[in-house]
Amino acid sequence: MKTNNSELMEIGVLGDERGNLSVLESYINLPFEIKRVFYIYSTKDGVRRGFHAHYKTKQALISVAGSCKVSLDNTVRKEDVILDSPNKVLILEPNDWHEMYDFSDDCVLLVLASELYNSNDYIRDYEEFIKVYSETK
Ligand code: TYD
Repeated sequence: MKTNNSELMEIGVLGDERGNLSVLESYINLPFEIKRVFYIYSTKDGVRRGFHAHYKTKQALISVAGSCKVSLDNTVRKEDVILDSPNKVLILEPNDWHEMYDFSDDCVLLVLASELYNSNDYIRDYEEFIKVYSETK
């Protein structure tokens, strides 16, 4: 399902009597090569984080435990996505401003990224985001 520039997809669950297993593989069901992995957890009540877009970095967000919401803004439209299952994957394009919120106490938000960490790839100023992306919705 397309949400702004990004895409919320459901990946397969390989389930058997032992439980479940889900897989993401670069260029098979993930549209980039993974260069970095990080995860957000033990998020305090009421916290909202993110508040940025990127120039280049693509990411995949998976709530592997618990749930959270992601607000996406493509300069003209805001959409909210709920990540509440390990088989839901949000492919987050660099040109969607994003904020994560409503983290459950047990939420572990796994993020796969196409680039190594580089603070120069962040657009943290909303006016700058509008300037950079308002022509490319
Ligand atoms: P921050 O960018 O504030 O997180 P959010 O996406 O919620 O805005 O990241 C918190 C700190 O972690 C900040 O000092 C930058 C650092 N950091 C890294 O060193 N490497 C990374 O891959 C990420 C995502 C953050």
